[in-house]
Amino acid sequence: MDPVFRVWTPAPPRAGADASIPLPTTERKARSPMAVTSVATKPFSDQKPGTSGLRKKVTVFQQPHYLENFVQSIFDSLEGFQGKTLVVGGDGRYHNRTAIVTILRMAAANGFGRVLVGRGGILSTPAASAVIRKYEAFGGIVLSASHNPGGPDGDFGIKYNIMNGGPAPEKVTDAIFANSRKITSYRILDAVPGSLDTLGESRLGGMTVAVIDPVADYAELMGNLFDFAAIRKLFASGFTMRFDAMHAVTGPYATEILERQLGAPAGTVMNGIVKEDFGGGHPDPNLTYAEELVEIMMHRGEADFGAASDGDGDRNMVLGRRFFITPSDSLAILADNAALVPGYRGGVVGVARSMPTSAAVDRVAKAKGFGCYETPTGWKFFGNLLDAGKATLCGEESFGTGSNHVREKDGLWAVLFWLNILAVRQESVEAIAKAHWRSYGRTFYSRHDYEEVESNAANGLMDAVKAGFTTLPGQIFEGREVVMADDFAYTDPVDGSESRNQGIRIGFRDGSRIVLRLSGTGTKGATLRVYLERYEPDASRHGLDAQEALADLIRIADQIAGIRQRTGRERPTVIT
Ligand code: G1P
Ligand code: ZN
Repeated sequence: MDPVFRVWTPAPPRAGADASIPLPTTERKARSPMAVTSVATKPFSDQKPGTSGLRKKVTVFQQPHYLENFVQSIFDSLEGFQGKTLVVGGDGRYHNRTAIVTILRMAAANGFGRVLVGRGGILSTPAASAVIRKYEAFGGIVLSASHNPGGPDGDFGIKYNIMNGGPAPEKVTDAIFANSRKITSYRILDAVPGSLDTLGESRLGGMTVAVIDPVADYAELMGNLFDFAAIRKLFASGFTMRFDAMHAVTGPYATEILERQLGAPAGTVMNGIVKEDFGGGHPDPNLTYAEELVEIMMHRGEADFGAASDGDGDRNMVLGRRFFITPSDSLAILADNAALVPGYRGGVVGVARSMPTSAAVDRVAKAKGFGCYETPTGWKFFGNLLDAGKATLCGEESFGTGSNHVREKDGLWAVLFWLNILAVRQESVEAIAKAHWRSYGRTFYSRHDYEEVESNAANGLMDAVKAGFTTLPGQIFEGREVVMADDFAYTDPVDGSESRNQGIRIGFRDGSRIVLRLSGTGTKGATLRVYLERYEPDASRHGLDAQEALADLIRIADQIAGIRQRTGRERPTVIT
């Protein structure tokens, strides 16, 4: 049956109404069954995707037509998807289900043949990537604002992933934004899908909706990469672990894999129930927000290994007993030990890291003869390198680590990689890290975030530092000579595309470095990120505290950028 097209101009929205609430039954009945409606709309000016899709307050997404405009702009930027498969799922935060219902109705109206949706609307970001790849879907829509708080007053987000399972590259996100500026109507099916909570298939207009187990495909992939038998033995020997799911999406994944499949005792997974507001917390696995885990591991030293993941499951923090592993060191250690893991035995071709991530992994790459790439911030820049077989392992300082098994960073994957190494080496996390520093030297590293800074002040700060690019080299601060200052630009070695304005780099003669960037994921004001890095080959100084070891660079950053004066802040909001 041909869909019926007609133009419907909606009645003015009721105050506080959620535009994605299905039409009232009477209105539905008045139309022919399964009609596709073309709804007139006007562009919103603020739908430019950031570092990782479009992120806004829930209240912004609840404006009539807001989500619909963006979804139609995604579909309008794609070609050849008629009859093909779309994957849809999210991190379970508030508004997830409402948004999914709208997206299913729009996918059906736009001609997708099949949608795979995680039961309950759940799919972690890496699981969505795995599902897109396994079922050779045309693409996927992932609903998440990652580590940003959720709930009615929290954040929501939407992002499109392409058929390799990874975030849409800039040419696609630019096209989505361009479409969002000129949209005049969107298409939506005049029917609602069946329950999202029951596995199985149903029809929605001309489209099939398949509700899938959100965990099974992902767990199977992990079992193929890691030595589950060795990890089971490790747990059976009394090894203790705490995994903090932070009431976010990794709860069901970690419970299934760690407790059911690997035999870790019940209670290993903490905060494992997904809540729409993440229990009121900030689901960001770092030393500030993963307080409960930090207390157990760093202060009380109660387990051999600790880990946490974020809202949508792509980030990870790993801790030893009273011992913190920086994400930059974690990437270097995983690369160095990859031969111990079945999925990577002899298989590492290259490593890639985002520009602000420390150069610790570069030293491993050099020693082992791996290729080594430095990309702008954001996982989307790794996609081409992974697809072209140039990189095997990738990482970002922002608690993101991953590999060519999917096209997203993957929190639980990193945790399982560590467990595999611990099972084989039978040493503590601390001993492994210290041995690594003895072999390669230690890269002291820290990131200082100034959140919710007034936007003009933050932009003014960046502009002022840029204005000094020509005069900075040669200047000496606290005995350190500046040798370079620039705005990082990247030419993709695979497709030649160029990305400019990716962050200020200030390099010193001894190789230490200060990087300044403005966040592309914040939803309120501006977030200034200051990244500090210093290399220390001398093992007798490896025991220093990172903030002490970086104290002079911290002061120099303030001298060069006037951080305290321009932001009005005496200290960072978050130090990692
Ligand atoms: C932040 C991180 C970046 C990460 C992104 C998405 O982006 O810094 O590494 O890829 O979140 O998780 P930012 O807010 O700095 O633009
Ligand atoms: Zn995330």
